[in-house]
Amino acid sequence: MIEGRPSETAIEVAAAREAHRRYDEAPLLLDDVHAAALLDEAGLAAVERYADGAPWILLENRLFLPLRARFVEDRLARAHARGVRQYVILGAGLDSYAWRQPESQRDLRIYEVDHPSTQAWKVDRLSGLGWPLPSNARMVACDFESSTASEALAATDFDPSRPTVVSWMGVIYYLERETAAGAMADLAKILAPGSELVFDVMLPWEAMPERYQAIREQMVAWLSGAGEPQKNRYRPAEIVEAAAAAGFGETRVFDVPSLHAQYSNRAPREPLTERFFLAVATR
Ligand SMILES: C[S@@+](CC[C@H](N)C(=O)[O-])C[C@H]1O[C@@H](n2cnc3c(N)ncnc32)[C@H](O)[C@@H]1O
Repeated sequence: MIEGRPSETAIEVAAAREAHRRYDEAPLLLDDVHAAALLDEAGLAAVERYADGAPWILLENRLFLPLRARFVEDRLARAHARGVRQYVILGAGLDSYAWRQPESQRDLRIYEVDHPSTQAWKVDRLSGLGWPLPSNARMVACDFESSTASEALAATDFDPSRPTVVSWMGVIYYLERETAAGAMADLAKILAPGSELVFDVMLPWEAMPERYQAIREQMVAWLSGAGEPQKNRYRPAEIVEAAAAAGFGETRVFDVPSLHAQYSNRAPREPLTERFFLAVATR
């Protein structure tokens, strides 16, 4: 992260969600109707880079990034149906769930926890749009490298005795390995039974197909330039082990092709990502 500047990857993710709406056919994996409004001019220009004919890695992201948001929002809907009423979004970026929340889920408490630089930028953007924070949402600033989610949430009305869904999308690979382990242990400690930590995980380079090696240097250079180098990768068995060591009960992993087949009755026009998988660690 670069102090005083929003996360560039958060902007990129919102741009991919908007590109999915703009360039993919219905039914969409996720219809993030607010993604475009939350983007500034540079973010909107980024959307166009995802148009048909774009480099394959961007076309992959145009499906994967809305898919992972759909995954966590589906988990939230299911958890809500069994009585869960707290939703924590760690590293929220330009997540717009709070402004899209269905009427039926308005009894949730939503906590957007993010790096102070990204959050300050989002607050400013929301104020420019004239969008108030929904009454059931809270903004909580926290740098995970120097503080913990539990410390940040302790300053709010978050109730650790009640079960919670925690979204941790697009964050774990930007943290140092020990920070990630500490963050999981911190969450396992404060999450009540019935809670879920829902997150995406990036595979080690050597576990990815050859096509990624060809763009490795380019990706590493872009991410370091953005001040967001990726530091932390796991194979499925390693994340299950790390979550257990942190104090979670069962951890399930989900592969992207199976989820895509579940969400869409059409074969994807572009290959699906083979860089990521999704995980749900349960308390
Ligand atoms: C790739 S974006 C993901 C945003 C959002 N979860 C999504 O999927 O749209 C990464 C997010 O992690 C946050 N982040 C990265 N490093 C962080 C840190 N050390 N402390 C707090 N947040 C951090 C960034 O501010 C950004 O919002």
